[in-house]
Amino acid sequence: MSQKNKRAIVTGGTRGIGRAIVKELAAKSCCGVLFSDVAFIYNSCDECAEELQKEIGSPATKIYAFKADASSLEQAQATVADAVEKLGGVDILINNAGITRDNLLLRMSEKDFDDVVSTNLKSVFNYTKAVLKPMMAQRYGRIVNITSVVGLIGNAGQSNYSASKAGVIGFTKSMARELASRNITVNAVAPGFIETEMTAKLNEAQREALLRNVPMARMGKPEDIARVVAFLCSEDADYITGQVIAVDGGMTMC
Ligand SMILES: NC(=O)c1ccc[n+]([C@@H]2O[C@H](COP(=O)([O-])OP(=O)(O)OC[C@H]3O[C@@H](n4cnc5c(N)ncnc54)[C@H](O)[C@@H]3O)[C@@H](O)[C@H]2O)c1
Repeated sequence: MSQKNKRAIVTGGTRGIGRAIVKELAAKSCCGVLFSDVAFIYNSCDECAEELQKEIGSPATKIYAFKADASSLEQAQATVADAVEKLGGVDILINNAGITRDNLLLRMSEKDFDDVVSTNLKSVFNYTKAVLKPMMAQRYGRIVNITSVVGLIGNAGQSNYSASKAGVIGFTKSMARELASRNITVNAVAPGFIETEMTAKLNEAQREALLRNVPMARMGKPEDIARVVAFLCSEDADYITGQVIAVDGGMTMC
């Protein structure tokens, strides 16, 4: 296993944290993770997907892009089947796709609640279910789910988002227990306040208020998350499962 490329599927790979994860897994050999061939899933911006493929594809790694809605089980199953055929199997799954639709509950629509839960939580069920058979058959797998610190501590105006991310944590721990005997580890990474298009929507006042709760007094970068994800997929993390690792500049400490 360690002498050949690993094979990874990453949801939400075209920008932000997902893009950094795709690059980290594909372009770098670190912490015992050899170069990985990567299939990433995206739902918008075909040019971004093409650009990423061109940027990191190399003789050492193969990069495939699949356009699909991560909240659809049918699409997840079709995409994973296609990706597994192209990659020749799957060793690593990173469930990263996510959205926000923030509002106080009094003003939150049913659609905004459902969309966030489908994209952030159901997608994790969809892709995990789709990779299980090949991972169980080879008795090896590394699954990392991207949750959020607000799944741990909550946040006013984000009841839909924090509920979906707390759900990801419960799902992660249950899957870790179900799959440990098959040598499949399942962990979650909880980013704090990271510089991406998701947080670019915040105004200066919201930004300052959030940073007051960050002991390191600065935002994180997508690469800060990607490096921890790569570590959890590496041989150095073989005995870690069911954990939630906050990468948040000290924001939660729980
Ligand atoms: N940025 C932060 O501060 C922060 C903090 C905590 C957690 N997170 C989580 O990290 C993950 C990545 O966030 P980001 O900041 O990079 O966000 P982003 O908005 O920059 O990127 C999200 C990615 O998910 C993809 N995506 C969204 N809906 C999808 C769908 N239905 N099907 C397929 N792909 C879909 C988008 O195309 C995009 O590539 C998310 O799960 C987010 O909740 C981010």
